[in-house]
Amino acid sequence: MNPDRLRVRRAVPGDEPVLRRLRIEALTEAPEAFSSTLAREKARTEADWRRWLSPGITLLLEEAGVARGLVAGALDRDDAHIAHLMAMWIDPALRGSGTADLLVQAHFDWARSAGARVVRLGVIDTNARARRLYERHGFRVTGPGPFSADGRREIHMERPLDEATGLSGEELP
Ligand SMILES: CC(C)(COP(=O)(O)OP(=O)(O)OC[C@H]1O[C@@H](n2cnc3c(N)ncnc32)[C@H](O)[C@@H]1OP(=O)(O)O)[C@@H](O)C(=O)NCCC(=O)NCCS
Repeated sequence: MNPDRLRVRRAVPGDEPVLRRLRIEALTEAPEAFSSTLAREKARTEADWRRWLSPGITLLLEEAGVARGLVAGALDRDDAHIAHLMAMWIDPALRGSGTADLLVQAHFDWARSAGARVVRLGVIDTNARARRLYERHGFRVTGPGPFSADGRREIHMERPLDEATGLSGEELP
């Protein structure tokens, strides 16, 4: 991996097939990490994918122009001061190299620019690697979430958005 060839950008109209490919890869590679299923992702229409672009956001991690990871964000329907972090996934070949940090920071920058004060997420409690990533970025467990259909427990994690990061959301390419 060459860090100079990595960038994070916001998914825009026209990226629907890219989102579909990434989500199918994610649900194939790590089905236990997500509350969705491969069948559900495959059945999504182009209009469904468009809803991943706005009013929330999907951020793509690209290596040399090829999307290899993603994270999605949306403001809470009831409280716009809460931003949800969802669908985090990185191609296994890029893991352990700091690329996850690029996506997390870009999500924080978007959330801050959207007026959020807190970032919230759900993670399967046995997903130690993801939990460790989130803890490193200041998330703390706030309580248990629902059980998935196959009996796995989700936990909720939260982090205040009080500390500044590098880029502002507006600077995202
Ligand atoms: C979650 C994910 C995005 C994290 O990206 P990553 O590049 O693997 O993250 P990192 O390499 O920074 O690893 C995060 C932490 O887990 C640790 N870790 C690595 N492998 C681990 C393992 N098998 N068990 C527990 N912790 C592990 C790392 O050492 C690091 O901790 P540190 O900061 O103390 O060194 C990526 O692993 C992924 O896409 N996983 C599959 C999908 C998924 O689980 N998504 C999250 C849904 S909530």
